[in-house]
Amino acid sequence: MLSNITIYCADLSKREQASAFANNNNYLFATALPVSTALYLSFEENSLSLHDSHINSSISIDFTSGGLAHRLQYGGGKGQTIAKAIGISSKNKPHILDATAGLGRDALILANLGSKVTLVEQSPVLAEMLKQAIDLAADNPLFQQATGAGFELYNDDAALFMDNRIIDGCDVVYLDPMYPEKKKTALVKKDMQILQQLIGHSTAEQNARLLTAAIAFASQRVVVKRPKNAENINGPAPTMSLHSKKTRYDVYVIKTLS
Ligand SMILES: C[S@@+](CC[C@H](N)C(=O)[O-])C[C@H]1O[C@@H](n2cnc3c(N)ncnc32)[C@H](O)[C@@H]1O
Repeated sequence: MLSNITIYCADLSKREQASAFANNNNYLFATALPVSTALYLSFEENSLSLHDSHINSSISIDFTSGGLAHRLQYGGGKGQTIAKAIGISSKNKPHILDATAGLGRDALILANLGSKVTLVEQSPVLAEMLKQAIDLAADNPLFQQATGAGFELYNDDAALFMDNRIIDGCDVVYLDPMYPEKKKTALVKKDMQILQQLIGHSTAEQNARLLTAAIAFASQRVVVKRPKNAENINGPAPTMSLHSKKTRYDVYVIKTLS
């Protein structure tokens, strides 16, 4: 299999784990820089970071400090558009399947509003980064409080995960697929550039496949995060759409659809 990423580890204490991860997923493995791909996942003691040497930038996941932790403490609560789209209120705390977990940011924000969140991420690299971030945050009181109702991660294709009913079901499926390729190249933030380099853009077929599986799986609603002016995903029309500054949330209410 051709891979666009190298697993890199210079740290002796992590080398066995890093090389096993590379082997299991058919990735290249290197113990020295520079490596033969622009993208590399660096295993270090207590940190796992995804680097793109072309843009000289990297991303890592940290659920205990920085902007995300700040948003947990001081963020917009149930008034946030994402919370309204999902239907979270003091009376309704749905079990949410975040079928496109990515860097886990939305998942943690939703968990912090009191919902049980099940995360599914197809990329072994991102799933490994999420797993490590969850393990490292396990003793952090803010993270414990945010994820008290449940925060469980699966590395799987979410469409298959839902088709095969790997868990019994959920109330809401949340989808935030990679945004479509833009005709005009606006500057995308560096972390999104790295994700696009790793995953690519999503196709209309992949999005439609996820939406169909999600509508069959959720009992209350499916919520899709889209760029403000993007077309709807192919399939039934959304029941309603909610807008924030740059984002649209298309809401498919299951009762209305059937
Ligand atoms: C835009 S990112 C999601 C960002 C995420 N909402 C966050 O807050 O960090 C999209 C993610 O969906 C994942 N994805 C796309 N299709 C998927 C599928 N069929 N199953 C599981 N994950 C998928 C991609 O690998 C990528 O990590």
